[in-house]
Amino acid sequence: FAARQVSQSVFGAAQRRAFSATSNNLSKVAVLGAAGGIGQPLSLLLKLNPRVTELALYDIKGAPGVAADISHINTKSTVKGYDPTPEGVRECLTGAEIVLIPAGVPRKPGMTRDDLFNTNASIVRDLAKHAAASCPDANILIISNPVNSTVPITAEVFKAAGVYNPKRLFGVTTLDVVRASRFISQLKSTDPANENITVVGGHSGATIVPLLSQAGYSLEGAEKDEYIKRVQFGGDEVVQAKGGAGSATLSMAMAGARFAESLLKAAQGEKGVIEPTYVDSPLYKDQGVTYFASQVELGPNGVEKIHPVGKVTEFEQGLLDVCLKDLKTNIEKGEKWVKENP
Ligand code: NAD
Ligand code: LMR
Repeated sequence: FAARQVSQSVFGAAQRRAFSATSNNLSKVAVLGAAGGIGQPLSLLLKLNPRVTELALYDIKGAPGVAADISHINTKSTVKGYDPTPEGVRECLTGAEIVLIPAGVPRKPGMTRDDLFNTNASIVRDLAKHAAASCPDANILIISNPVNSTVPITAEVFKAAGVYNPKRLFGVTTLDVVRASRFISQLKSTDPANENITVVGGHSGATIVPLLSQAGYSLEGAEKDEYIKRVQFGGDEVVQAKGGAGSATLSMAMAGARFAESLLKAAQGEKGVIEPTYVDSPLYKDQGVTYFASQVELGPNGVEKIHPVGKVTEFEQGLLDVCLKDLKTNIEKGEKWVKENP
C-alpha cells in the first residue's frame, strides 16, 4: 500500500503500470553515497521499484544503517549496506546493472557547482576506478557535481582501464527537465504531469538550456527572462532556502529514481523510452564539445539513439551558443585534471 501511494504521487501513469507488473528480470542497482541527502531518499524510491531486485548501498559512513532501515519495507528486493573498505565497495558493485553516484559534497550559498570540483573530482575518480574494475559493463549514472566535469572524468577513468563504453555513461540532468516542466505548469496553470519540456546542454547555470518552443510555448519579456533564469538557477533557489544545509536532495532523489526506472524499462525491452541526459555525444564534437545533454533514446545497451537538438528559435540559439562555450571549458577542465591526477 505504501509503495503504491508513493509511486502514484511520484511517477507518471505508464510508470505506475510498470510498478504493478511482475518482472522476472534480475536487476542489481548500486548507490554510492547512499547515506547522504540524496542517497537515502533515492535508495528508498529504488526499494519501492519492483524492477529492482537487489539494492546495494555504499557510503564512507552509515550505509549498513540505511540498508537495515530500508530492508524492512515490504517489497521483494534484497538490500545490503557495505562497509567503507575497498572490499566493501567492490562487493557492492560486482554484478550491478546500474550504478548511481551521488557521493560528494553539496553547495553552500554563494558557491557555484564548479567550486565543488576540487573535492568531488577525486571522489568520483576513485569510485569510477572501482566501477571500472568491478562492473565495467554497468550503466554509470553520475549525479555528483559538477556533472559537466565529473562525467568526462569518469569517461577518462574507464578509458584508462580499457573498458570505456560511451553508451553506458550518463550525467543525470533529469532534475532540470523536472523543474522546467513544473515551472511552466505554474505559469500556464497546466497539469505538470503532462508537461515534458526538453532541456539540453549541461547541468549548471548557463549550460542548462530549456527549449520551450518545442513544447509549443512562447513567453515574452520579463516572464521569459524569469522563466529561463529559474530553470538555469533552480538549484540556487534550493541552496539558498536550505541556508547552508545543502542543496536539492528530495527532488533529486525523485529525478534519479525516474532516470534509473527509464533505464530498467528500456533494458527490459520497452521501446521508445526517451530521457534527456548528458552523454558522450556527436552533436557538437566539431566545435570541441564532446559531451552534451539532449533527448536520448534508451535501450538494452544503454544509449540507443542520440536525438539532435532540433528546431530552435533565434533566442534559444543564443542560449545554446553561450552554453557550448561554457561546456567546452568544463569538459576540458575535467579531462585535464584527471590526466594530471590519474
Ligand atoms: P550529502 O553530503 O548529503 O551526501 C553525500 C554523501 O556522499 C555522504 O553521505 C558522504 O558520506 C558520501 N561520500 C562522500 N565521499 C564518498 C566516497 N568517497 N564514497 C562514498 N560515499 C562518499 O550531499 P547530497 O546533497 O546528497 O549531494 C551529493 C552530490 O550530488 C553533490 O555533489 C551535489 O552537488 C550533487 N547534486 C547533483 C544534482 C544533479 O542534478 N545532478 C542534484 C542535486 C545534487
Ligand atoms: C541542483 O541542480 O539542484 C543540483 O545540481 C545541486 C546544486 O548545487 O544546485
